[in-house]
Amino acid sequence: LKTGTDIHHAASLLRHGEVVAIPTETVYGLAANAYDPDAVLKIFKVKERPFFDPLIVHTWSIEQVDALVTDFPPLARKLAEALWPGPLTLVLKKSGRIPDLVTSGSETVAVRIPSHPLTLELLKLLDFPLAAPSANPFGYISPTTAQHVADQLGEKIPYILDGGTSNVGVESTIVSFEGNVPCILRHGGVSGETIEKLTGVPPISYKPEEKSQLVPGQLLSHYAPRHPLILGDIEEGLKLYMGRRIGILSFSGSFAGVPSEDQYIMSANGDIEEAAKNLFSLLRKLDGTDVEIILAGNVPDTGLGRAINDRLFRASQKKNK
Ligand code: TXA
Ligand code: MG
Repeated sequence: LKTGTDIHHAASLLRHGEVVAIPTETVYGLAANAYDPDAVLKIFKVKERPFFDPLIVHTWSIEQVDALVTDFPPLARKLAEALWPGPLTLVLKKSGRIPDLVTSGSETVAVRIPSHPLTLELLKLLDFPLAAPSANPFGYISPTTAQHVADQLGEKIPYILDGGTSNVGVESTIVSFEGNVPCILRHGGVSGETIEKLTGVPPISYKPEEKSQLVPGQLLSHYAPRHPLILGDIEEGLKLYMGRRIGILSFSGSFAGVPSEDQYIMSANGDIEEAAKNLFSLLRKLDGTDVEIILAGNVPDTGLGRAINDRLFRASQKKNK
């Protein structure tokens, strides 16, 4: 049995240095014992992930995080207390407990407490935290169901813990601190507005073009489907690519001149959170069709919309052909 809900089986594999796919509220992760470099190495191999791209460490309690870091600034702790378990990752100064392989040699470690009942139960069974990147081959679309993981990594991993569809659907928001100013390294499941409200400080954030220079592993091309994805005004795209088979990924509207089965709508009601939840699975579905080109439009750039627009931008950056 490759997929199931047996946390004891998952725990046993992890204790033996194996990797296991785990559900979280954001996306599925590919987990291994964060204290064991040999186990962590398997994550990089399975994902074909470059070693310069550091991993997020998952725990189930703030006390556990205290053992992993040397400094937990008050504003960071405030965010942790308000938002964990949840889609927030904090980048903090690391203690000697975490191997360099996990952090790509950095002085900092990224940590979070995920909000998923199965994974929290699993973490409580273990006496080590779990290093886990998203459970997709490096550079491809992130998985939000156990089936997505099975489709791509099923042959390479011993077990997928099935926790249903990820509720949030985009990865965690990654926050570091420059003195007392929160710095959003990756937009995700917690909005910038929420971070500002909780800290009282407007967070710094970068455009993807600038950020790839500053944040390890944040590559311009990521989440890329096999078919070219063109991001912009969909009506314009329809004129430009007339005569080709076009697939559409839109926020809430549909378009004349394209068969309805080639149109994928993230949220018919225009609900940003529903759109985030559907984004990756619709992108995968579109990629499984034989459309020649995917046209996608930006969503409103507020709340989770920033995370969606960031993923769409990166998905459009693959150099096809
Ligand atoms: O929602 C999520 O965060 C999911 C689930 C599984 O928890 N995980 C996830 O991991 O998205 P991954 O590997 O796809 O993205 C991790 C990113 C890295 O690409 C890097 O940009 C950032 O986290 N990161 C990790 N450690 C860091 C560090 N020490 N300093 C700065 N950024 C770091
Ligand atoms: Mg990822």
